[in-house]
Amino acid sequence: MARKKIIAGNWKMNMTPSQAVKLVETLKPLVVNDEVDVVFCVPAIDIIPVLEAAKGTNIQVGAENMYFEEKGAFTGEIAPAMLEEVGVKYVVLGHSERRQYFAETSETVNKKMLKAFEHGITPIMCCGESLEQREQGITMDWIRQQVKVGFQNVTADQAKTAVIAYEPIWAIGTGKTATTEQAQEVCAGIRQCIAEIYDEATAAEIRIQYGGSVNAKTAPDLFAQADIDGGLVGGASLKEEFGQIVNYK
Ligand code: PGA
Repeated sequence: MARKKIIAGNWKMNMTPSQAVKLVETLKPLVVNDEVDVVFCVPAIDIIPVLEAAKGTNIQVGAENMYFEEKGAFTGEIAPAMLEEVGVKYVVLGHSERRQYFAETSETVNKKMLKAFEHGITPIMCCGESLEQREQGITMDWIRQQVKVGFQNVTADQAKTAVIAYEPIWAIGTGKTATTEQAQEVCAGIRQCIAEIYDEATAAEIRIQYGGSVNAKTAPDLFAQADIDGGLVGGASLKEEFGQIVNYK
């Protein structure tokens, strides 16, 4: 079974609600492509206006984070049921910026993964090495660890529906894309790791994205790789260029 590509924008902490609606209006006609899943992952306050603006289009809406408790005294957090109720289909979990600035660990990411599945939300679980780790030659060890902990107690049926985003930290927001060979090599390694945790069938179904300075120029080669099933796009998802990335062929 051929895996459907998934191309997701990660808006990060950009776009006020009114700016968000304008951006959706601009991108709406440009991101039409039924062959791929198109997802806009947006700040929490933008979710409802973006869902409204994207109604009737092929744009699906995702969140950039979520907490792992159902409800209660967790000031400032967003509960899974809140996302579920308004129709959020995806949630980015464990982005390197959250790991770096907000003390996210693979253990908390794992708790969030389990909650997301419980609420019918597809996690886009991020992993990736620092430049230092790459230079030390421990890239794959590090990422295998992130994946193994992130997927603890996740069933094979759940894992099949998940998305993993491989994002080398040194390539995020730096304009420095990993080479297609580097990206393919790690994405293949992640698929191998999933095969070891589960089985070949699960590994064949799970979708693995590349992220880190993806742009209209680099997308076609990256997305043509055997183990790269699309991208998680930051900077370029806020521009008309995102339309070209979605229609990379
Ligand atoms: P970038 O961000 O495309 O701006 O490098 C990617 C990401 O952080 O998801």
